[in-house]
Amino acid sequence: MSATAKGLALVPEPAGHADGPRASAVRPVLSFEQVGFDYDGRAIMRDVSFAIAPGELVAVLGPSGCGKTTILNMVAGFLKPTAGAALIGGREIAGPGPDRGVVFQAAALFDWMTVADNIAFSLRCAGRPKAEQRQVASEMAALVGLSGVEGLYPYQLSGGMRQRVGLARVLAAKPKVMLMDEPFSALDVQTREVLQEEVLRIKERTGCTILFVTHSIDEAVFLGDRIFLLNDLKEGRFEEFRVDLPAPRANGENRLHPAFIRLREAIYRQMRH
Ligand SMILES: Nc1ncnc2c1ncn2[C@@H]1O[C@H](COP(=O)(O)OP(=O)(O)OP(=O)(O)O)[C@@H](O)[C@H]1O
Ligand SMILES: [Mg+2]
Repeated sequence: MSATAKGLALVPEPAGHADGPRASAVRPVLSFEQVGFDYDGRAIMRDVSFAIAPGELVAVLGPSGCGKTTILNMVAGFLKPTAGAALIGGREIAGPGPDRGVVFQAAALFDWMTVADNIAFSLRCAGRPKAEQRQVASEMAALVGLSGVEGLYPYQLSGGMRQRVGLARVLAAKPKVMLMDEPFSALDVQTREVLQEEVLRIKERTGCTILFVTHSIDEAVFLGDRIFLLNDLKEGRFEEFRVDLPAPRANGENRLHPAFIRLREAIYRQMRH
């Protein structure tokens, strides 16, 4: 993939030298090196390369079927590139791991478990003590604005609350990287905007790196530090946009900022083009 704009000054992880001469430069937490992927011999993408810095949020836009979920699946370790390499922390991704958490379009909650048990699921699997599970569940519930409903069951929640539980469950495992695949697309506009602001606050607080797939230009501009517009992955091409909005990014007023409007228009024109 050859981007039209250059990203951060990201350098490859020097093998085995944590404090080498380039330690002052930003090392990517996530990178693709000339990744290609085929489904049964049908090329979905080829020569895709990018690097994402720790704590960065990259929003991924592109038409249906262009390969957004496939990219996320390779980062999650569910799929293996058919060419090139997908790396996390400089190491090739060999499979799923606790350093990555995935939030899907519809939160796949366990209906027979309370909110707290859903959130603490990864700790339970890891055999952590009950008291720790309860404490982490209540911390994460607070982080996503769900304090007070820890004892409820999923059927007692609204769609937005269910997505928050899904988010809290991923956060409870303290992943380095969060992979979010159109997590808010089924929600009403108001809930969606509130949750977008929540994601930015969580990113600030946890320092998590996020790859966020969306079909909404507004969502991409509001959330992203950078935006990848995947318009031609089969030919190894994508466009990259850097978002320049004032801090704090979680401020809803940013949606009215001239830079927001300008970038939204530029991306819209590029997508039409
Ligand atoms: N399991 C599969 N077997 C064969 N082809 C697949 C499979 N999953 C996806 N594809 C194909 O790979 C391509 C990319 O799919 P992907 O799910 O990554 O698209 P996407 O950009 O996430 O689309 P959407 O916006 O609709 O979610 C599509 O052409 C799709 O038909
Ligand atoms: Mg998809």
